[in-house]
Amino acid sequence: MKKISLIGAGNIGTILAYSISRKNLGDIVLIDKVDGLAAGKCLDLSQSLAVDGIDLSIKGTDDISYIKNSDVIIITAGIPRKPGMSRDDLIETNFKVMQSIGEAIKKYSPKSFVICVTNPLDAMVWSLKKISGIKKNMILGMAGILDSARFKFFLSELLKISVSNIDTMVLGGHGDTMVPLLDYTTISGIPLNKYVELNKIDKKIIEKIVDRTRNGGGEIVSLMKNSSAFFSPAVSAIEMLESYLKNQKKILPCSVYLDGEYGISGLCVGVPVSIGANGIEKIIELNLTNTQQSQFKQSVMAVDELIKKCKKLLV
Ligand code: APR
Repeated sequence: MKKISLIGAGNIGTILAYSISRKNLGDIVLIDKVDGLAAGKCLDLSQSLAVDGIDLSIKGTDDISYIKNSDVIIITAGIPRKPGMSRDDLIETNFKVMQSIGEAIKKYSPKSFVICVTNPLDAMVWSLKKISGIKKNMILGMAGILDSARFKFFLSELLKISVSNIDTMVLGGHGDTMVPLLDYTTISGIPLNKYVELNKIDKKIIEKIVDRTRNGGGEIVSLMKNSSAFFSPAVSAIEMLESYLKNQKKILPCSVYLDGEYGISGLCVGVPVSIGANGIEKIIELNLTNTQQSQFKQSVMAVDELIKKCKKLLV
């Protein structure tokens, strides 16, 4: 069995542990700094597996050294935002969390495939990579799958079409500047723009959906008040995990360290990548229109500002 360590046993970490156990993807170590939280949840989860007759090793602890020699580590530790906060407001608190986790990964499990979910996402992936020393093909952040899923859901509601017929791609940082790519969006193979023309759907309505997608996380926070989204972030991270474990080579939008691709070096930002047994196996460079290029540039600049803050916190 593969060893999958989940750091953070809050809302997202709990759904991750539940889904990984039900899909039988590997043995689980769940870690949280709160004494007894992960241990209690794991005991409960193990007992639930007894109902379904699934044998799996599940360990809950507050001792991070248990990540030793993990195949995969998924990080959701940190604080989520509250109503009125942007993801960027979390930076100082969550940077410190990444610092301690990054050092632990370097010490106990430097060869793992690392998926980060903690926000502000792109800056946290950059910080973790820098502190842990993990190779650039083995560390990435979950955002684009979630943003694309939100866009798909809103489109499916508007067009009254199954979400399974919709394919889309979102680029850029995981924030208000993300770039949903309308001309890489298809409805059962039909380009969205064509579909809109044929069905006489006002383009302004599509623009509203783009805006709603950009604020999709905030909409949920303002409803729930004391937590941010957790089902969809967890399921999105599982898609990345499965593509790695099963060598599926799925093309998924993820936040990765760019080394010249898209003309960017030294930043982590959301782009389409192929994930297989060797981690990030390919970074796919799309041809962007002038408008998309300038939106992407703006998004990259917003990420750059946050990474600069992390660089200051590093010293
Ligand atoms: N080590 C281990 N666990 C930690 C640490 C740490 N250094 N710091 C915080 N935690 C734990 C908290 O005790 C808490 O149980 O991380 C957990 C976070 O859980 P929630 O508060 O429920 O947050 P969640 O909704 O899971 O979101 C986690 O993912 O999507 C992002 O914006 C979101 O940054 C947030 C993160």
